[in-house]
Amino acid sequence: MALQLGDIAPDFEAETTQGKIKFHEWLGSSWGVLFSHPKDYTPVCTTELGYTAKLKPEFDKRNVKVIGLSVDPLGSHEGWSKDIAETQGHTPNFPLIADADKKVSNLYGMIHPNASDTFTVRSVFVIDPNKKIRLTITYPASTGRNFDEILRVIDSLQLTDKHKVATPVNWKQGEDVIIVPSLKDEDAHKLFPQGWKALKPYLRLVKLAK
Ligand code: BEZ
Repeated sequence: MALQLGDIAPDFEAETTQGKIKFHEWLGSSWGVLFSHPKDYTPVCTTELGYTAKLKPEFDKRNVKVIGLSVDPLGSHEGWSKDIAETQGHTPNFPLIADADKKVSNLYGMIHPNASDTFTVRSVFVIDPNKKIRLTITYPASTGRNFDEILRVIDSLQLTDKHKVATPVNWKQGEDVIIVPSLKDEDAHKLFPQGWKALKPYLRLVKLAK
């Protein structure tokens, strides 16, 4: 069965561009983003990896470690990284797993045989510090992902883990959030003394104190 939200992210050992890793040990107490791309030396993947390298300070700020994967060998990742630096202005500054034997791809269900039985699709797994899978995304090979969206979801996950809130459509850091429906008004007053706007009894918008 495919990996689902709340499952423990399977552990593995792999060769990467930053040395051999044991995944859980490498994650430590950080959040993680594990993402696959179909193939090295392809245009969409080149733009994705360059952009992800540019976002590294944003991931660092959120205590998130990023790791990429394709079924290409290590030498290919290393050669291609130079092209990424040249064309995108950012060298991959996170490890890339060389999964030539497809061990990790199969463990995470990143190969969808009816799309391609050879290459990984564009999978994303966001993993929390308890090693639980908190987000899965699957994109087709021809569509580059929106890594700003991945950061946005991480912001939401980290916020909603801390407060009894959920985040509305297209929410961005700093915008109003929703008080979870399970929290009664009398308890909400204790947690949100600043008050809230109730559009409906079940739709209460609150500005979080900074
Ligand atoms: C790309 O990264 O450009 C790509 C990879 C596989 C199929 C189509 C596009």
